[in-house]
Amino acid sequence: MMRIAPSPSLAPLTTLRIGGSALAEIRLDAPADFDRLPDALARIGGEPRVLGGGSNLLIAEGELPLVLVRSLCGAGQEPVILGESADKAGQTRVIIRAGAGLRMPALLAWCAGHGLSGLEGLIGVPGRVGGAVAMNAGAYGDTVGGRLTGLTVFTPERGVRRLSSGEWSASYRHFALSAPCAWFAVLEAELSLTVSTPDRVRAAMGERLTRKRAAQPVTMHTAGCVFKNPGNLSAGRLLDEAGLRGARRGPVYLSGLHANFLVHDIRPDRADTKGSFAAAAELLAEARETVARRTGINLDMEVKVWPCPLF
Ligand code: EPU
Repeated sequence: MMRIAPSPSLAPLTTLRIGGSALAEIRLDAPADFDRLPDALARIGGEPRVLGGGSNLLIAEGELPLVLVRSLCGAGQEPVILGESADKAGQTRVIIRAGAGLRMPALLAWCAGHGLSGLEGLIGVPGRVGGAVAMNAGAYGDTVGGRLTGLTVFTPERGVRRLSSGEWSASYRHFALSAPCAWFAVLEAELSLTVSTPDRVRAAMGERLTRKRAAQPVTMHTAGCVFKNPGNLSAGRLLDEAGLRGARRGPVYLSGLHANFLVHDIRPDRADTKGSFAAAAELLAEARETVARRTGINLDMEVKVWPCPLF
């Protein structure tokens, strides 16, 4: 079903809990719903923006002329096993199909239960499958792009299409379709996983999670790492060495645990978080400038900023 809601509040739709409102939210539950999307977009106007789990987003406050496209295909539905094959090394590979709306923690739990290996490093990564594909999410050596064998997408130019390997490119925290398009929404992803056992997959996930909890502020309101790592260097270490760990602007600060995490300090006694975006933008500009002055390196944002990039 396609459902349209006017003036959605954006902050609750993001893990950072910052942002104003959009013109409308269009929720689509199944690939067939996308047939009606072009008409709905033409009727509402504004600029379409695809929003998944909102875990890599910093959004400006105020009334933004944006229309949210929520591709929630397969939300709450278990992935489907499509088939098995042996790879060159003789290992059994299982191809699964997961909907864009499925939450990453649910996908990881399903992989553990089925003893399917390949995504363990993504344990603790929030968001949904669609966003994880579109950002090529990765951690501890595992990336979503590295497992992708097929993809169903919507583009305004070509509507709903199934793509095969070679029709997209994935690199470090970057994902693009090969055919030019104004924007795209992921509907379903096919992933190739390796057969293991539930115990082994769970143990690997547990080990990564322990490392993650020790190094990252996993319980706070953040959008993950805010800057990309430049080459082989760690943006977190560069920020830390520049004295920015813990740097604060009003309700936002760079984590004391890991300087590359922008934390939104939401306190129950401080309901009014207005000004958080301005504070975040100021803090990130200062952090980027300080690192550039010290090292000559201009950090690039990993987190997406709406309605337009900061740098
Ligand atoms: N470090 C510091 N100070 C800090 C932060 C880190 O000295 O404030 C040092 C660490 O001690 C370590 C090195 O920098 O020696 C690297 O740190 P870490 O292992 O935490 O990895 P990272 O490069 O900072 C990347 C990804 C994370 C991913 C982890 C694990 C990016 C920008 N970050 O972090 O991804 O979870 O590796 O694979 O690529 C994300 O993309 O949102 C994200 C959190």
